[in-house]
Amino acid sequence: MDTLIVGNWKMKLSIKESVALADQITHLAEPGKRVVVCPSFVSMYPVHQKLLAGSVLLGAQDCFWQEQGAFTGEISAASLAELGCRYVIVGHSERRQFLKETNFMFNKKIQAVIAAGMVPVLCVGETLEQRQSGAADHIIIQQLQEAFEGIELAARQHLVIAYEPVWVIGSGRSIDPSEAAHAAQLIWQTMIDIFPLSEQREMIQIIYGGSVDATDVRSFIALPEISGVLVGGASLDASHFTRIVQKA
Ligand code: PGA
Repeated sequence: MDTLIVGNWKMKLSIKESVALADQITHLAEPGKRVVVCPSFVSMYPVHQKLLAGSVLLGAQDCFWQEQGAFTGEISAASLAELGCRYVIVGHSERRQFLKETNFMFNKKIQAVIAAGMVPVLCVGETLEQRQSGAADHIIIQQLQEAFEGIELAARQHLVIAYEPVWVIGSGRSIDPSEAAHAAQLIWQTMIDIFPLSEQREMIQIIYGGSVDATDVRSFIALPEISGVLVGGASLDASHFTRIVQKA
């Protein structure tokens, strides 16, 4: 499976800035490495026009679970796919925190993303409070079990789980790779319990996110269970993101 590098641009760039950044990173992907960028919804179309010149793929930061209808302000998975989107981030901690989204909603979003032929990138991870109270493992297991409850995977469906300790996101300091390794093992075991069939296991990819930069990306990707990264802040600078992809 290719190493996956996902850039999450959050709500940090204007449309103009997004297009300019896309222009600089269009040719980043290398053999064996898959690069995805997730601009804001309104920047997706013009960014994709730039990306078409290279092999970097388009992703989205979220989507709604209904196919179509009276859901003011929401964006369907089908319309993202129509735009050329291939990956959709689901369950980012900022949506859990600021929009009060729940595992129940992520379950429906994952189903919508899969039905539209795209790859869900489910984010899981504990808050500092949960970690300090010793609940981190329990929280991660629960996030996975609830998000994938009742979901049946077609053969060859690709699933990405991003382990992102919430307290590390945007902090400028990533965690020790041994801690990421522990979480990744837990995620792997939980996913095997949820999806026991071996051919499905091959389609599950675990990545790490939380203040990843060019100096530490290698230490996460070198872990046996982790084969990619989700990058926020450091994906906004073309030269920094380029170094991350080169080192990955
Ligand atoms: P960060 O963000 O790299 O800025 O910590 C990661 C994320 O929120 O996905």
